[in-house]
Amino acid sequence: MESKIFIANWKMNLRLSEQKALLTAIVTHCTFPNQLEVVVCPSYTNIPAVAEVTNQLPLILGAQDVSAYPEGAYTGEVSTAMLHDYNAEYCIVGHSERRKLLAETDAVVRDKAWACLASGIIPIICVGETLDQRQQGQQDAIVSTQIQAALQGINLRNSDTFVIAYEPLWAIGTGQAVGVSDAKHMAQVIRQVLIDFFHETNITPEHQPRIVYGGSVNPDNITDFSANGFDGVLVGGASLHADQFCHMIEALINQ
Ligand code: PGA
Repeated sequence: MESKIFIANWKMNLRLSEQKALLTAIVTHCTFPNQLEVVVCPSYTNIPAVAEVTNQLPLILGAQDVSAYPEGAYTGEVSTAMLHDYNAEYCIVGHSERRKLLAETDAVVRDKAWACLASGIIPIICVGETLDQRQQGQQDAIVSTQIQAALQGINLRNSDTFVIAYEPLWAIGTGQAVGVSDAKHMAQVIRQVLIDFFHETNITPEHQPRIVYGGSVNPDNITDFSANGFDGVLVGGASLHADQFCHMIEALINQ
């Protein structure tokens, strides 16, 4: 069985000094067990400072986004090779904030996921429905379609792996996480989509893709997800506080 994973998405928060203070507090107070992967995803400008810490500790560096292009005239973009310079192992792609605010399409998300896989970075592919779509009962279809689109045409090798992050848009940053039975159901839907995909493409993955939940995760509800079909969590707001960060890790280990 793959180890559980805790992913902190710090988004566009924390100036460098704040980031350093948070990291110091996390490193001082949290215990990092072997059976859990702890990934932190800072802003690009904070990556070098975080990499200094992650390169010495059992913390793993991730990025929040990456270019689909390998190099060249793409002003403002950062390539997978540049992330490799800092030993980044994971990269979030297709976060709903980027899909919504920066008009990232399924095709762009697929290209970014493919760029990550081709360069040996594990993509954390975000999917999730809007409130309107959930109210109309479309969540299973929406999430399935997003996953299929993100993997379509990708020439996956058996050794490749990726993470699917189920993040319902209405649960992100709202303090209202998805209910346990709905979450459990969605984990099953996602697992089935992946089984079908591997079957159709004749791929026998050496590592099963992990499925994580994201959206208003906190120390009190984290095990609702990790104990109900998810292999871990993707956490925004609560991961900006060292005490909550450590409590969530403890909860994951002790569940
Ligand atoms: P949240 O964000 O934990 O603050 O809801 C999660 C995310 O957007 O990844």
